[in-house]
Amino acid sequence: MTKPTAASLKAVVLSHPPSKDEVIDFEIKLLIEAIQFQYGYDFSHYAQASLTRRIESCLKKSELSNISELIPKIIYKVEYFDLFLREMSVTVTEMFRDPLVFKALRDKVFTQLKTYSRVNIWHAGCATGEEAYSLAIMLKEEGLLPRCQIYATDFNNHSLAIAEQGIYKAEKIPLFTQNYLLSGGKASFADYYQAKHSHAIMHDDLKQHITFAHHNLIKDQCFAQMHLIVCRNVLIYFDRDLQNSVLGLFHHSLLHRGYLLLGDKETLEFSNQNDSFTAISQEQRIYQKVTYD
Ligand SMILES: C[S@@+](CC[C@H](N)C(=O)[O-])C[C@H]1O[C@@H](n2cnc3c(N)ncnc32)[C@H](O)[C@@H]1O
Repeated sequence: MTKPTAASLKAVVLSHPPSKDEVIDFEIKLLIEAIQFQYGYDFSHYAQASLTRRIESCLKKSELSNISELIPKIIYKVEYFDLFLREMSVTVTEMFRDPLVFKALRDKVFTQLKTYSRVNIWHAGCATGEEAYSLAIMLKEEGLLPRCQIYATDFNNHSLAIAEQGIYKAEKIPLFTQNYLLSGGKASFADYYQAKHSHAIMHDDLKQHITFAHHNLIKDQCFAQMHLIVCRNVLIYFDRDLQNSVLGLFHHSLLHRGYLLLGDKETLEFSNQNDSFTAISQEQRIYQKVTYD
């Protein structure tokens, strides 16, 4: 066998130059591995298109020109990982978002929850807390709040800190009020917060029934004995394998006949859990567990 010369090696390299996209895919894989190695967060099952967009935005904000420059920064400087985590965590949310979903929850699910002496609710991917407070308000109006505990979780600690404070900009109140009324609100939205300067501070009696906690859907355990799980607009960021694994976690966490509420672009159809649930409202993405563990 003849030994390869520098010239023949160069010819081989040049005859198979990777495309720009292949280089980026390779860099993304390295970045994901570095993050998992250093911080234990596994982003390998996030939907590729949104992952790529988020990384691009991270590069822009860090004023770096390519992913290879970002990798050592993420490994050695936690603030770069923090920035990455915030980018990966899309925190868009609002009170009573999709009001008709909340109306259906009130009419179809809360009426059933009234038969239990204690009600456990897991709100996964709560972002800055607006949905959790919306649930608490509705539960209060249905006379259920005193026997309810809402466990509102997210993997973004920055969002959780805002959620725990329950202080929102006054400029958002008109939208929240409109959503509240469309969702079948029975009182005045102003009954649930104290206005101070340019902010609205949610009342303590709502907060007392919400426990905000860090939880990573990819690697953390299930919450046992839940009557209702609300997880909206989170699964859309995951690939099919991760969606199936998280839905399995939810199935495991729910009591028999427990309810699951997903976001409007998320469905149990085509998932591994399709046969374990029945649709209470396919349109509003409300499902009920029909199997035992
Ligand atoms: C678009 S927000 C949804 C907020 C709210 N559920 C809603 O629909 O208005 C998505 C949330 O999912 C959270 N998230 C994404 N991946 C997660 C994970 N692996 N574990 C826990 N939360 C996650 C993000 O931090 C973000 O707060």
